[in-house]
Amino acid sequence: MTQSLTIRRPDDFHLHLRDGAMLAGVLPETARHFARAIVMPNLVPPVVTGDQAEAYRDRILAALPPGMAFEPLMTLYLTEATDPDDVAAAAAAGLVRAVKLYPAGATTNSHAGVRDLTRVQAVLERMAEIGLPLCVHGEVTTPEVDIFDREAVFLDTVLDPMRRRVPGLRVVMEHLTTAEGVAYVRDGGPDLAATITTHHLILNRNHILVGGIRPHYYCLPVAKREHHRLALRAAATGDEPRFFLGTDSAPHPDHLKETACGCAGCFTATNTMAILAHVFEEESALDRLEGFTSLNGAAFYRLPPNPGTIRLVKAGPVRWPARIETGAGPVTVFDPGCAVHWHVEA
Ligand code: DOR
Ligand code: ZN
Repeated sequence: MTQSLTIRRPDDFHLHLRDGAMLAGVLPETARHFARAIVMPNLVPPVVTGDQAEAYRDRILAALPPGMAFEPLMTLYLTEATDPDDVAAAAAAGLVRAVKLYPAGATTNSHAGVRDLTRVQAVLERMAEIGLPLCVHGEVTTPEVDIFDREAVFLDTVLDPMRRRVPGLRVVMEHLTTAEGVAYVRDGGPDLAATITTHHLILNRNHILVGGIRPHYYCLPVAKREHHRLALRAAATGDEPRFFLGTDSAPHPDHLKETACGCAGCFTATNTMAILAHVFEEESALDRLEGFTSLNGAAFYRLPPNPGTIRLVKAGPVRWPARIETGAGPVTVFDPGCAVHWHVEA
């Protein structure tokens, strides 16, 4: 039985770092284990221009505690007013690694997102030309569509037509939650990939709702039925290069989660690697953990794998704080609901 494992230092290809006091509180949780992360731009106001991305990157680097190394991979928030030349210049400078599509109203701070995709056609065409990936929050926002169906409907009615309109556009379906999504990405060719979160490998919708409502398990896209979780596990652990880790670790202070209308987001930065080792061991796939966390995403983003390594060691139960204190308030750490025995030596 494997008791220790050394892998390339991992990257997180979908992360929310926020800003100000929250940024300062959560950044070390990621930088402790991860070398790089694709940083989401849904701040208030959003990170729309190259200049804003550069200023945000500088705030992230300034918040990094001395002695920690971490490279933020910046993204731009796509709006109907986004300038293709600004995107191309920010990409050419190596500053911006992707553009994020939020359908307006789909999730936290998405109201400035896109209502009519035809209005961003020129930006998408330029991105296809230069090979810059589009990260997609893949849920329709149509009020009539059931929240548990919003990803599957998005694939057919939005993503597939968009990809046909913009041949060559490189797309990452973020935080995949359905068997339909897994099948679509598997058959999608080399320009399509998907991130999978840690929490969607653990949760199905019963975890959110049975025996009382669990606000810290509420995120978007919401966790689905068990067969979807199993499809995600198969994709993540199946040695398929176009599935890779994007935690979507999304900190909100507890008082905004534990309330009548709680925010969406699970905070998994602290214990993601320990939980993933547990999941991969359960699936008899520990030898595939490195691909999922440290190789596949870098290859899709055309980045070299990280030179450093981390070591995972199996021992007694791992302890982590129930919540981390930040200047913006306490943030509850994701509870996988079982003991986890994989310790990370970074
Ligand atoms: O659960 C989520 N939280 N899903 C998202 O898409 C956004 C994120 C956030 O920013 O809080
Ligand atoms: Zn997200």
